[in-house]
Amino acid sequence: MLRVYNAPVSTSDPVIQTRGLTKRFGRLTAVDSLDFHVQAGTTYGLLGPNGSGKTTLIRLLLGIVPPTSGEAYVLGRRIPNREVCSQIGYMPQAIALYEDLTVRENVRFYAHLMGAFSQAQVDEVIKLVDLADRVSDLVSTLSGGLKRRASLACALVHRPKLLFLDEPTVGVDPQLRVQFWDHFKALNGQGVTILVSTHVMDEAERCDRLGLLQNGRLLAEGSAEELKRQTTRTTLEDAFLHYANGMATS
Ligand SMILES: Nc1ncnc2c1ncn2[C@@H]1O[C@H](COP(=O)(O)OP(=O)(O)OP(=O)(O)O)[C@@H](O)[C@H]1O
Ligand SMILES: [Mg+2]
Repeated sequence: MLRVYNAPVSTSDPVIQTRGLTKRFGRLTAVDSLDFHVQAGTTYGLLGPNGSGKTTLIRLLLGIVPPTSGEAYVLGRRIPNREVCSQIGYMPQAIALYEDLTVRENVRFYAHLMGAFSQAQVDEVIKLVDLADRVSDLVSTLSGGLKRRASLACALVHRPKLLFLDEPTVGVDPQLRVQFWDHFKALNGQGVTILVSTHVMDEAERCDRLGLLQNGRLLAEGSAEELKRQTTRTTLEDAFLHYANGMATS
């Protein structure tokens, strides 16, 4: 049930819930009357072609852009809400790091910003993304994949309850990608909720629930197994092509 007041939520309440959430940019409807929810301690994967509304949806849930209509509730609060920010980690699709600061300085900065500075947490998260040997390097001198690792460190450093990860593994090498996902699943085990967008099907397989967006609408929703079963396809990629092509491939 949607909460319409700022009271703490019980663990059974969805961590994210939207009702008729819509965002228009001029004549373009990027997110179209979206109703969906994400349960605590799970990973929800957003899939969909370029321009289908994944990033816009995440930005709406963060309160970075206002909806045209409809509403979103995150961690029991109607968005926008400043108080929930410190409980949220966000790894944007476009890397937002200070190029003229070192890796360590960037992570410290985000930790301070979230009101949770602890050297142990900074060290832990830098180790997690395997950047300990580059910690004193300026971000401007890092490769694209290394910058993404630093960006993930910034998103995780304050131990958020809810993580928004917008294509977190683009440009990250396969070995580290597996480590990232192992960590995401470990975070779920600690009760952390994750909303992640991806174009990578083996990552989608690791999500508890998937939503396929097209033109800002949810075409299909369910676990990877459910979506494959419903479409009688053996791979998730084929299942999504089936939905995206309007069931024309059956
Ligand atoms: N600030 C903006 N002004 C105008 N149009 C926008 C703006 N932000 C997004 N859009 C448009 O909204 C649509 C959805 O964009 P969005 O970035 O949410 O897609 P996406 O699913 O994240 O795509 P990708 O897989 O390429 O990252 C696109 O047509 C995009 O051009
Ligand atoms: Mg995007």
